[in-house]
Amino acid sequence: MILRKQFLQHVGQTSPSPMLVEVARAEGSFFYTPEGKRYFDLVAGVSVSNVGHGNPQVIKAVQQQAADYMHIMVYGEMIERPQVEYARRIAELLPGDIDCVYFVNSGAEAVEVALKLAKRYTGRTELISMRRAYHGSTHGAMSMMGAPEGEEWKSEFRPLLPDTRAIRFNSFDDLQYITSRTAGVLCEVVQGEAGVRLPDPEWLRALRARCTEVGAMLIFDEIQTGMGRTGAMFAATKYGVTPDIVCLAKAFGGGMPLGGVAANRTVLDHFTNNPCLGHITTFGGHPVCCAAGLAALNYLVDNNVVDSVEMKGAMFEERVSRHPRVQEIRRSGLLLAVELGTSEYLYQLMDIFKEIGIMSDWFLYCDTAFRISPPLTISPAEIEECCDLIEQALNRLK
Ligand SMILES: Cc1ncc(COP(=O)(O)O)c(C=O)c1O
Repeated sequence: MILRKQFLQHVGQTSPSPMLVEVARAEGSFFYTPEGKRYFDLVAGVSVSNVGHGNPQVIKAVQQQAADYMHIMVYGEMIERPQVEYARRIAELLPGDIDCVYFVNSGAEAVEVALKLAKRYTGRTELISMRRAYHGSTHGAMSMMGAPEGEEWKSEFRPLLPDTRAIRFNSFDDLQYITSRTAGVLCEVVQGEAGVRLPDPEWLRALRARCTEVGAMLIFDEIQTGMGRTGAMFAATKYGVTPDIVCLAKAFGGGMPLGGVAANRTVLDHFTNNPCLGHITTFGGHPVCCAAGLAALNYLVDNNVVDSVEMKGAMFEERVSRHPRVQEIRRSGLLLAVELGTSEYLYQLMDIFKEIGIMSDWFLYCDTAFRISPPLTISPAEIEECCDLIEQALNRLK
């Protein structure tokens, strides 16, 4: 009780009604309160904890790296093995000629870097995003929250970046707005906070073709979809479209704060000269975070975790969609939006979930659907048990 009071008094709040569940420890697909109450974690820190809480390989890598060295010097001056090895592994896995990673601290910073890079590389100023997009909360990233839906979140923070425009995700017609004035087009491959909206693969290909035609940089935001979430290591490879720039964060740090911008060396070189120091960051690519991210990636690969993601997502979909209260499920791998049709049901359900030990959430632009995005390591038996609980909760909706 005292901690709760101090939390509300001394820790900056962003929500008028925080969940207020105290965490004592976390393991695998669960976290626990100090009283020992167990919660199924269906949020996974918003697609962060892909390798499960308390992953022993990640813990070992963090402990080892913390003991060897932590922060030495601002980004890019020193040769730090965890950074180099992680960049090399990511370059191997990303499609096309992407062979270089610029490390930052977070998703929003990765987006800032990508936008600056597109402007710097093309010498143009216009930046295009999708309606109902979410790319982060800093000024530049917020400018790319698609209009008009994003207006609710950004209007009080204007003026934002000039020369931005939002087009409709999956609209072939709107591709005409991408022109020789456009520096970059920023796009989530699967729209997360819009409530899990899947791309039309043909539209993604047309988007790629249009960007190539007019010389605009295609930037994929894989911050939520990367590191196996959609059933492939990256959604770009799942949908077979190669961007010029990829933004990474969330699961990229294996549970530690880390972001990255990946592109071809010749593109990223534009931060090196005229002027040099095109983007600088003190902590970006922190060796402990890179060691954690690399250990998490190795865990995914060594244990073939990504191969089972589609099967696990389908298990959730098959079980939960049977319930009459469920109108629709939108899904890519283990990223699911369960559509209930009304926010009244949704808010009721969140209270029931909290009582029975499930952590879920809704989406920034969609408060009629709840999220299922557990650690990718969740077992089939845990999925069955979790679906039983979800069913019980749905039965209680009035
Ligand atoms: C698709 C996408 N891009 C960017 C971000 C911002 O990342 P961060 O919160 O690390 O700044 C998020 C966060 O939810 C996201 O889902």
